[in-house]
Amino acid sequence: MKGQIIVTDREGKVHELEAEEGYVLMEIIRDAGLPIEAACGGCAACATCHVYVDQEWITSLNLIEDDEESMLDQTFFLKKNSRLSCQIEYKNNLNGIKLTLAPE
Ligand code: FES
Repeated sequence: MKGQIIVTDREGKVHELEAEEGYVLMEIIRDAGLPIEAACGGCAACATCHVYVDQEWITSLNLIEDDEESMLDQTFFLKKNSRLSCQIEYKNNLNGIKLTLAPE
């Protein structure tokens, strides 16, 4: 079953992207052509896939693991709802999740 993620870009434009289980959010955003660098390719080593997760969705997510946490700690523009989008696998329970790309 395909679903959707809703991503606000750095200009404030909202994009509805098709999402499928088995992909991480970073891949869905990147493959849709949005400007997310994802320099390390998804191994929690660069933080260029930093997003803010809409507050209402935070509790639906997998917990932050140590490597994600230490990378986020070094990130500029850190907020309480910051996550690395390469560390969140899309699951059907995330259908409709809202994210915002963090500043570069
Ligand atoms: S792509 Fe590098 S930390 Fe997510």
